Amino acid sequence: MTDEELLDLALEARDHSYSPYSNFAVGAALLTKDGKVYQGCNIENAAFGPTICAERVALFKAVSEDQRDFEKIAIVGGPAGKAPTEDAPPCGVCRQVLREFCNPDEFRILLGTSKEDVHAYLLKELLPESFGPSYLL
Ligand code: THU
Repeated sequence: MTDEELLDLALEARDHSYSPYSNFAVGAALLTKDGKVYQGCNIENAAFGPTICAERVALFKAVSEDQRDFEKIAIVGGPAGKAPTEDAPPCGVCRQVLREFCNPDEFRILLGTSKEDVHAYLLKELLPESFGPSYLL
């Protein structure tokens, strides 16, 4: 799957965002090493704290189905009801949660507004000097 195709699937996932409080809709599409895609959107909550980001929805869906090996994730976001106009980088919590399952030297994070506008980063670039499972296991 190309970066552009994965970004398109993130845009599709974004259409399902439940974000009535922030009106900021986010979509993510996570590709496993064996070629499966898990999509996620942000899901907000009236109590605010239980809100979950699109990236973690995608990752938790995958992990809950026994997936452990991931290649890349595409993330898109912006004001709900409008096409994204700028990159929507993952929050710090999502970077750390991705770090639990993804190799910082290899896992790629794709940001963009459309498939004509994709910017790729390695996890280690967005979360340098990270703390991960090898410190404990
Ligand atoms: N959000 C995400 O879905 N992913 C991120 O990495 C950053 C923030 C969501 C959470 C909330 O629903 C909205 O964007 C505004 O913070």
